[in-house]
Amino acid sequence: MRTNDAQMLVLCTLADGPLHGYAINAAIEKLSGERLGPGSLYGALTRLEDKELIESLAGEGRQRPVRLTAKGREVLERELRSMAEVTDRMFEAAVPDRIGYLDRLAGTDVGRSYKQLVLDELDIRPGHTALDMGCGPGTDLAALAEAVTPSGTVIGIDADPEMVDRARGRTADLPAVDVRLGDAHDLPLADASVDRARTDRTLQHVTDPAQVLAETRRVLRPGGRLVMAEPDWDSLAIDHPDPEVSRAYTRHITDRIVRNAVIGRQLPRLATEAGFAVPTVVPVTSVFRDVRSADRILGFQRNAERAAAAGYLSEEAARRFLDHLAEEPFFAAVTLYVVVAEVGEGASAQALS
Ligand SMILES: C[S@@+](CC[C@H](N)C(=O)[O-])C[C@H]1O[C@@H](n2cnc3c(N)ncnc32)[C@H](O)[C@@H]1O
Repeated sequence: MRTNDAQMLVLCTLADGPLHGYAINAAIEKLSGERLGPGSLYGALTRLEDKELIESLAGEGRQRPVRLTAKGREVLERELRSMAEVTDRMFEAAVPDRIGYLDRLAGTDVGRSYKQLVLDELDIRPGHTALDMGCGPGTDLAALAEAVTPSGTVIGIDADPEMVDRARGRTADLPAVDVRLGDAHDLPLADASVDRARTDRTLQHVTDPAQVLAETRRVLRPGGRLVMAEPDWDSLAIDHPDPEVSRAYTRHITDRIVRNAVIGRQLPRLATEAGFAVPTVVPVTSVFRDVRSADRILGFQRNAERAAAAGYLSEEAARRFLDHLAEEPFFAAVTLYVVVAEVGEGASAQALS
């Protein structure tokens, strides 16, 4: 028996007590987002009664309420336990460590492809000084080093000492790379000292993206270029029969989980206000058809549980949402924007300060 089977839905709605046919279908709609057709509902009721999983109580004609029998309750509990086991096996229970998570994302097809797009848009030449703001564990430093070689320099900056340590370790054999502990709001770099700069899912986390853009504008030389790859979490669309449930899940992420959740769409405006020209914006939409690989990036179970704890979904809706994702054909999509921002050839670092 599967979650969406009419019989299973009927058993679920009777868990709290007897109901008659109309009330059962209203409860099914609340649970699954859809009503059963009259044929399916009465077919399910007849089969459940034949199997002695439900029984009719005394009542008037078709309005006779039905309730679970002891055998019916046992079957319901067994089915719910086994569905919960399937769901739990499908989703990652523990929060992954941050560096493992970043490496995992960088290794996906979409991760590799948008990072290559950022590199192409940077248009780095040998001899350039390239800056990676929020370089994390050094994910992209080797590719930048190869592009600036042999005479250029790569500066990786991150505010987290653990990331800096790891990035230094990973680039120890690359003399062009200099990894520094620092804050992108207050870059430890001279005015007009950098040719190319990138951010990769960093601006979504900073306290003040406009300040980071102003700082980047300050350190870029005339003719310099900044390429940003930042998500728009409001675009996270997960298929579910009741779109309100997946909207609530996404709303929790944008309200509570990511500080600057819609930074992707804001970048052309913010970069223009910081004095850049913005010639190119490329949307990169990741489409997930496999729930397991989506979960490794999107962490469905932990985020659904957090959404329930924060009141965005009821516990029951969160559990049904996860069951649906685990058992039914899966679809989710989210868009990240690659935004190119340029400093004019004749511009000065102080132009906007
Ligand atoms: C999502 S990670 C991305 C890391 C790396 N760019 C990548 O693609 O793997 C964001 C990084 O930005 C760093 N970060 C956040 N706020 C920062 C700030 N104000 N200054 C410098 N780094 C910052 C975090 O420590 C983290 O390493």
